[in-house]
Amino acid sequence: MSEVVIIEEIPCESGDGLIAKVTINRPDKLNSLNQEVISALKEMCSWAESNDSVRCVVICGASPNPAPEGKRSKPHAFVAGADITEFVGKGSQEIFEMFSDNAIEAIWNLNKPTIAMVDGFALGGGCEVACSCDIRIVSTRAIFGTPEIKLGLIPGYGGTQRLVHLVGYGRAMEMMMTGNNVSAEEAYRIGIANHLCEPELLEEKTMDIAQTIASKSMHTLGVAKQTIRAALDNGISKGVAIEAKAFANLFDTEDKEIGVQAFLNRSNPEWKHK
Ligand code: COA
Repeated sequence: MSEVVIIEEIPCESGDGLIAKVTINRPDKLNSLNQEVISALKEMCSWAESNDSVRCVVICGASPNPAPEGKRSKPHAFVAGADITEFVGKGSQEIFEMFSDNAIEAIWNLNKPTIAMVDGFALGGGCEVACSCDIRIVSTRAIFGTPEIKLGLIPGYGGTQRLVHLVGYGRAMEMMMTGNNVSAEEAYRIGIANHLCEPELLEEKTMDIAQTIASKSMHTLGVAKQTIRAALDNGISKGVAIEAKAFANLFDTEDKEIGVQAFLNRSNPEWKHK
């Protein structure tokens, strides 16, 4: 795996398995997404999906390197967008290929829980990476935004679609039409962020939630994720029908029996589908 994406394997506290902490590591370029990062993230997704020990994926950006003598340090960034230098001289066909079947779709399509841990700038493609995760935990230093309009562009990694579901039509329109930044507090208020905390508590809070999720049945988590997703892709009647089927099917799983019995016996469930 390339060094632009670093994976740390954090043991699960509840038993076997691990939480994959994935760091996008181009701090000198504010972790912007060049094609090397995109390829490495896609590779990470294939690895995470096929590795049974991975129970949750946490994505973050590398912290800034110490500033060279006499220079100001770079700001904190989750991801400051697509690497704009790669836009130069590209035509529509090339860009269409670069932005189709991309890493952000791969993250979105992971059938495992995903959390974005956001400290600093999450702009453009960075906002889109965060929105492609299931949950966003952000520090008070986080800044979200979709500034593409200032480049004569619109979001190209699914932001026009996914952001609408998080913040609603009017706010998504305002963000994408003004290109204005959204502070961490505002991001929390409008539903981009699930939790807001001081930078020094961000990792602890994120891992706490990741550990809680990772302690659940992987099979049931996958069903939950797919079923909740049905709410985005279908009208309410069709979504409720999909839920009814998924819910009923869980009654044929051992994990449902294990979970119910553990509750009745006041013990901790030992999931079959770890
Ligand atoms: N693509 C390529 N390089 C980027 C980048 C991006 N999206 N965002 C930041 N960088 C690079 C800068 O060019 C700079 O490189 P250098 O030190 O070699 O000159 C470095 O990262 C640090 O960024 P800098 O602009 O100097 O930091 P700042 O604190 O002055 O400003 C931002 C921070 C986030 C406001 C500013 O970098 C920015 O606006 N970035 C682009 C955001 C954007 O439009 N994203 C959407 C792209 S579609």
